[in-house]
Parts: sequence; structure tokens; C-alpha cells
Amino acid sequence: MRKTVLGVLVSGRGSNLQAIIDAISADRLDAKIGLVISDNPDAHALQRVAGWNIPTVVVERKKYSSRQDFEERLAAEFALHHVDLILLAGFMRILSSHFISRFPGKIMNIHPALLPAFPGLNAQKQALDYGAKVAGCTVHFVDEGMDSGPIILQEAVPVLDNDTVETLSERILHVEHILYPRAVNLYCQQRLAVEGRRVRILPKMPKEGAKTQ
Ligand code: GRF
Repeated sequence: MRKTVLGVLVSGRGSNLQAIIDAISADRLDAKIGLVISDNPDAHALQRVAGWNIPTVVVERKKYSSRQDFEERLAAEFALHHVDLILLAGFMRILSSHFISRFPGKIMNIHPALLPAFPGLNAQKQALDYGAKVAGCTVHFVDEGMDSGPIILQEAVPVLDNDTVETLSERILHVEHILYPRAVNLYCQQRLAVEGRRVRILPKMPKEGAKTQ
């Protein structure tokens, strides 16, 4: 079967992109990264792909007169590289509903909070400021709202009394790096069934040729 081709959108550090690359090279994720697009020419994420033979493109918003033109370029790049699934991995721009509706059920995001709590920016700080005792991360499909699409996987971490934004973010990030590749792999195995807001995880199919009772 043809491998699912991933298109990853990044803006900065790229540690989640790294987690996807690592999962693919460790055979924990049966997919191929067809393209990485950064809207930031200085993103550290771009350095992470060097040496992996992964096509990268920098598409800067300021080079386009409108958001629509910018997004047209993104869509054209994804089409050119035959991308099946778009991953937002620290991409710091909000995509228009026009763009999102072109890829229904084909865009995923990771958010550093247990949605629907603390959507938007600085989710870890929001959790600390609120006094939450549990934080975590969420992988979800992207819909037209802000971090509001159907939830695929979530995992919790404790908030400790002496946590700072940095220590809490670090604890969450560690779990993000496990959860995102796992969610993408479920998609690649066609094991995600979206029913309204709920995403059911289907059982693993026996491998072709494997003995069944
Ligand atoms: C992560 O915390 C992710 O949850 C959020 O943005 C951050 C990106 O980090 N959406 P990185 O660029 O993947 O290191």
C-alpha cells in the first residue's frame, strides 16, 4: 500500500516535527514526509530536516498581498508534493476557513492543553494562572474554530506546586512527542472514524496473509 504523505507546517523550534521524523525512522510511524513548509525563514525546524532528504519550502506571508494568495501557495505546494495529511506543528498562523474547508478531515494539530480548556496562545500559562491541577496535550483535527476540532488523542500530566511555565511546558512537550506520531499513525492505518465531534479509534486490522481463527 502507498504510504501516507505528510505535509508539515512549522514556524519555529520544530520539536514535534523532529518527533515525527524520529517515529518514521524508528518504524513507529508508517508514513513519509513529502514536504515541510515554514512561514519563517529562520525557523529552527528547517535545520532539523537537513540531511533527511525532505523537501522544504519557505513561504513568507509578507511576500503575498493577501492571506488568500499566501494560502493558495500553501495549497499548491501540498498538491505538487501529493500531500495526503497536513500536520500543524507549531505553525503560528491561523488558517482561513476557506483553506480548511478544502482539506476536510485532513489537517491535524497538536495543542499543549487538555481541550476544550485553554485554547489559543500560551495554553500552559493559562493552565497555571487558572490554578489547574492537571494539564496535558491534545491532538485534534482542525476545523474552522480555534483549537475546536474533533479530538483524536489526549494525555494528562500533573501540574506541580512549584511549576513555572517552563517546567510545565517541558513536561507537556515530552508527552506531545509521543502522542502526535501515535495519532498520525492511527490516521495512516485508517483507524480514525470521525462521527460528529467524536473520533472513534478502530481496532487494528490483521495483516494480510496473517492467520485468523
Ligand atoms: C508545541 O507546544 C505545540 O503543542 C504547539 O506549539 C508548540 C510547537 O513546538 N502547537 P515545536 O515547534 O514543535 O517544538
